[in-house]
Amino acid sequence: MEKIIIALDGHAGCGKSTTAKAVAKELDYIFIDTGAMYRAVTYYFLSNNVDFSDALEVENALKEISLKFVLNPTSGIGEIHINGENVEPFIRNMEITSRVSDVASIKAVRVFNVAEQQEMGKEKGIVMDGRDIGTVVFPNAELKIFMTADVTVRAKRRLVEMESKGVDTSLEDVEADIRNRDHLDSTRKESPLKKADDAVVVDTSGLTIDQQVESILKLAKNIISA
Ligand code: CDP
Ligand code: CDP
Repeated sequence: MEKIIIALDGHAGCGKSTTAKAVAKELDYIFIDTGAMYRAVTYYFLSNNVDFSDALEVENALKEISLKFVLNPTSGIGEIHINGENVEPFIRNMEITSRVSDVASIKAVRVFNVAEQQEMGKEKGIVMDGRDIGTVVFPNAELKIFMTADVTVRAKRRLVEMESKGVDTSLEDVEADIRNRDHLDSTRKESPLKKADDAVVVDTSGLTIDQQVESILKLAKNIISA
C-alpha cells in the first residue's frame, strides 16, 4: 500500500496532536509533533541564556543542538530529546509556552527545524502536526488539514489537560496565551500560520476526539486507496 504524508496545521489547542497521534497509530504511520521541536529549542535557549535578539548567538546555539524523537516503549509516543536529554517533562509549562512563539518567529530556528522535519518525512508514512507543514515543510503532502475551533472551547479543553498534569493556571491565562500565540503565529514574517489553498478545514468545536479522528482517517484512506 502506498504511503502518504498527512500535514495537520492549525490554531493552538484545537486537537491537532491528539488527532495526529491517533491517525498515525491507526495507519501505522510515524507521528511527529513539530511544536515539541520549537518548544525544545525554546527550552534550550532559556536554559542557556541565549539572547534571542542576537542573530549570531542564535546561530551559534543552534550549532550546539541535536534534536531527536525517542520512542517511549510504555506510551508508544516519541519524546523529544535535546543533546540526549529527554526534555519532554519541561517544555509544556507556561514559561516555555509564553516564549515559544517568539523563538518560532526566528528564521534560523525555522530553517533548522524544517530541515529536520523534511528528513523525517522523506520515506512518507508520516502524520506531522504544526503550523507550516502543508505550506512550507511538505507543500506536496497528499493530505492537508487545517484545524480550528472556538477559542473558549480550546481554552477549556487545554485547562482540563493542564490541571490533570498538575499545572497551576486559570481559564483566563490559558485563553489569553492561546489568543496571543494565534496572533503571533499568524502575523509573523517567516512561515506564518495560514491555510494552504488545498487544505481541508476541520472545525473541532463541536466534535468529539473520536469524530475528528474518524473524519481525517476517512479522508486519508480515500487517498491511500485511490
Ligand atoms: O500544542 P499547542 O497548539 O499549544 O502548541 P504547539 O503545537 O506545541 O506549538 C507551540 C508553538 O510552536 C506554536 O504556538 C508556534 O509558535 C510554534 N510552532 C511553529 O511555529 N511551527 C510549527 N510547525 C509548530 C509549532
Ligand atoms: O495539538 P493541539 O494544540 O492542536 O491540541 P491537542 O494538544 O491535541 O488538544 C488539546 C486538548 O483538547 C487535549 O487535552 C485534547 O484531549 C482535547 N480535546 C480535543 O482535542 N478534541 C476534542 N474534541 C475534545 C478535547
